[in-house]
Amino acid sequence: PHLPAVRAALLAWFDRSGRALPWRVGPEGRRDPYRVWVSEVLLQQTQVVRGQVYFERFMTAFPTVQALAAAPIEAVLKAWEGCGYYARARNLHRAAGKVVGEGLPTTYEGWLALPGVGPYTAAAVVSLTLGEARAVNDGNVRRVLARLHGEKQPTDPWVQARADDLLDPERPGAFNEAVMDLGATVCTPKVPKCPDCPVSLWCAAFQSGQPAAYPAPKVR
Ligand code: ADE
Repeated sequence: PHLPAVRAALLAWFDRSGRALPWRVGPEGRRDPYRVWVSEVLLQQTQVVRGQVYFERFMTAFPTVQALAAAPIEAVLKAWEGCGYYARARNLHRAAGKVVGEGLPTTYEGWLALPGVGPYTAAAVVSLTLGEARAVNDGNVRRVLARLHGEKQPTDPWVQARADDLLDPERPGAFNEAVMDLGATVCTPKVPKCPDCPVSLWCAAFQSGQPAAYPAPKVR
């Protein structure tokens, strides 16, 4: 596909149709990194629709990283109820304790060094809050890129390389959220809404007539 055209169409679509979500408050690059961090950890196991309610509850209980660090672990686990994977809440709490002195990290490597923060979360936080050019790679990104390129068996390194190529270095946060939103709302797993898609013109899976066949189900 023609990357500059795809990139521009995706961002224009996001500016028109991107979702208003509670962790998206603040201009791009000025968002509260604490809110973005918590939301990205939460959304690893919870769908966006349900995640919003849990997110607001957690933020009401612990509005700042200082509040989270100062809270007893029992209160943190209580506020995490319903979200599953309590190890994630424990890691958030441990990480808050680590950074409360010097503040949240300001580099990708700094984020990666925190408990529970992997490449996905670190890339999301620095792209969304600092405008650093890091492409995220999650299930939605994998599906969107596999379809765009007509790749039935995308490997992790392949997805990362395609995401890095397509990323808009001027607006990495908006780009990452555009791909996530497209995957969640239009380029859905079973019945993708290709007529609503801003990039169908360049999409190999759409042109094949069998968009849902990409990527092929994982063989286990
Ligand atoms: N899923 C995970 N992170 C997200 C985000 N920032 N926006 C939309 N969906 C997401």
